[in-house]
Amino acid sequence: MYEPRVLSGMRPTGALHLGHYHGVLRNWARLQNEYPCLFFVADWHALTTNYDEPGSIEKNSWDMVIDWLAAGIDPSQSTLFIQSQVPEHAELHLLLSMITPLGWLERVPTYKDQQEKLTEKDLSTYGFLGYPLLQSADILIYRANMVPVGEDQVPHVEFTREIARRFNHLYGREAGFEDKAKAAVKKMGSKKARLFNELRTKFLEQGDDEALGSARALLDEQQNLSRGDRERLFGWLEGSGKKILVEPDALLTAASRMPGLDGQKMSKSYGNTVTLREDADSVTKKIRTMPTDPARVKRTDPGNPENCPVWQLHQVYSDDVRRQWVQTGCTSAGIGCLECKQPVIESVLAEQAPMRERAQAYLDDPTLVKNIIADGCEKARKLAGETMREVREAMGLASS
Ligand code: TRP
Ligand code: SF4
Repeated sequence: MYEPRVLSGMRPTGALHLGHYHGVLRNWARLQNEYPCLFFVADWHALTTNYDEPGSIEKNSWDMVIDWLAAGIDPSQSTLFIQSQVPEHAELHLLLSMITPLGWLERVPTYKDQQEKLTEKDLSTYGFLGYPLLQSADILIYRANMVPVGEDQVPHVEFTREIARRFNHLYGREAGFEDKAKAAVKKMGSKKARLFNELRTKFLEQGDDEALGSARALLDEQQNLSRGDRERLFGWLEGSGKKILVEPDALLTAASRMPGLDGQKMSKSYGNTVTLREDADSVTKKIRTMPTDPARVKRTDPGNPENCPVWQLHQVYSDDVRRQWVQTGCTSAGIGCLECKQPVIESVLAEQAPMRERAQAYLDDPTLVKNIIADGCEKARKLAGETMREVREAMGLASS
């Protein structure tokens, strides 16, 4: 239904690391080849938890955009922008807050989880409670139907679907809906109109899901219908009102397999990361000093790769031949640990080389980044404005 559109956001929390690259960014880079994509810096979301230390948000935002560009997010394919520069998100957030039951927000699992986890912060604020609703506004304002997120964010997408449904239920019932829908059907031409009505009846009277699918496909083909008419007909088809806001689906991003330097999952809070554009000396030093199988006290002691975090990196970076070399060399004490680490170091540096190179152009000339974001914000504002016009009208507010 509707044009496919992907949207995702990330909070600006500091330099991104290889876990972000293997988990999120490569996925975004792939999606941008398949669909129109919008990716944004969720700086307002960063404020919900970091309102007491806002000093780093702006710098982190620009650095993060450079990390995205370095990782291959291509501004000629994807629209990149910063949330706080598209104030329409805040307007939709406010309007949606009118219809959002407090209990729905209190029941979102991240609300209590984060409050318990971040005990050093006072998160009993209005802004933090509204975190998922702000996220809903981010998604709904672009009528994005695909939202790539990690598992922890799936409840927020589910919540967004419920908000969209509630909104459409409350405000999709415009005066004269039935007549407007019937007039819209006529615009399809008599043959298609008859087919559409037959399929609709089949679905509404017999619950025929196949008929529903065919009717939707038929609507998708109708280039000559206005957006308003399409919204009416998608709703009328299912016996409901106009579908002004689109219910999104989460595109679950497979959890990153990227191990950190200590064998735990790579994460800033574990202090075991290699950042995307970390300099070569630092990367080399970090890997050379990584812990290995504790059984290998002396060079002549055989080891077991299963007990070694370096082996996990070989599983990400090495082919079968090299993995066999590790297995044999480690268990027979035929290779030393530094020897074993060397190809990992080289692979990481090789992966980072094009990223460092792409980033350099933006570091040399920051106006390039500013222009990319200015363009992206303009595109985003235009799309957001179209939705807001309909939302304001549906909620009985004056429009200019
Ligand atoms: N809450 C998301 C996170 O922490 C970031 C985010 C904000 C987001 N708005 C969004 C993700 C909209 C997807 C869609 O990762
Ligand atoms: Fe780990 Fe390699 Fe040393 Fe074996 S040889 S303990 S796999 S670093």
